[in-house]
Amino acid sequence: MTTLLKVDNITVHYSRLAAVRNVSVDVSEGEIVCIVGPNGAGKSTTLLTISGILSPTEGTVTFGTKNITGANPENVARMGISQVPEGRHVFTALNVEENLRIGTRMRRDRGEIEKDFNMVLEMFPVLAERKRQSAGKLSGGEQQMLVIGRALLTRPKLMTIDEPSLGLAPKIVDRVYEVLTDLRNRMGLTLLIVEQSSERALKAADRIYVLRSGQIQLSGNAKDLRDGEKVKQAYFGFTEGVKHVGEVAF
Ligand SMILES: Nc1ncnc2c1ncn2[C@@H]1O[C@H](COP(=O)(O)OP(=O)(O)O)[C@@H](O)[C@H]1O
Ligand SMILES: [Mg+2]
Repeated sequence: MTTLLKVDNITVHYSRLAAVRNVSVDVSEGEIVCIVGPNGAGKSTTLLTISGILSPTEGTVTFGTKNITGANPENVARMGISQVPEGRHVFTALNVEENLRIGTRMRRDRGEIEKDFNMVLEMFPVLAERKRQSAGKLSGGEQQMLVIGRALLTRPKLMTIDEPSLGLAPKIVDRVYEVLTDLRNRMGLTLLIVEQSSERALKAADRIYVLRSGQIQLSGNAKDLRDGEKVKQAYFGFTEGVKHVGEVAF
């Protein structure tokens, strides 16, 4: 498999605090990779560094054959990395169609844009039905579909998604993941997803990385880690026989 994204040994600081230390993550073409970890682990920091919003103090990010470390976010997007940030940012003053069309802003291939636009409406009938409605009126799940649809309209080679399931009901989360899996299976889209739920990550991903306290604790094929035991240890930092007080439930 061809490596599409290579995050090599990055360290990222917020002023003096290192939020991420020596993190390496690879994503191959057509893969679904999940970075899973508790709140504050450094997941968003890692994605923001990939998309050029943050610059690492050490290490490199390579996309295809290009070194994109610290590149301008707009250039990174043009190269084919589309980021769906945490929190489903929709423009509430705009309607659904206008929100979707923002995804096409950087494209010049008009004919293809209309084809893709129609494909997205077919893929998300709920958005088609509400094309003219204010995006602020959509439910959380619908807004998640909208931001995924908008990202798709940039025609990305790689889509990164920060916590798509945050605050959504389990059934809606199932639907979001069905859509994501479908995008990979039908269009060969490569996905790098960040999640707090290790159960969800193990179900959806080909490979997972467990990030805690800014460092990768474990990585491997989701199949091999499916029983969840090793993942749980890496996630919470249990050492054998020692139970930490005050750990939150999984
Ligand atoms: N803008 C910021 N300024 C200072 N510290 C930050 C900032 N954003 C995140 N952090 C800190 O960096 C660490 C990693 O945060 P983050 O990448 O957001 O974690 P996650 O996405 O896994 O919850 C945390 O300790 C967090 O408090
Ligand atoms: Mg985060």
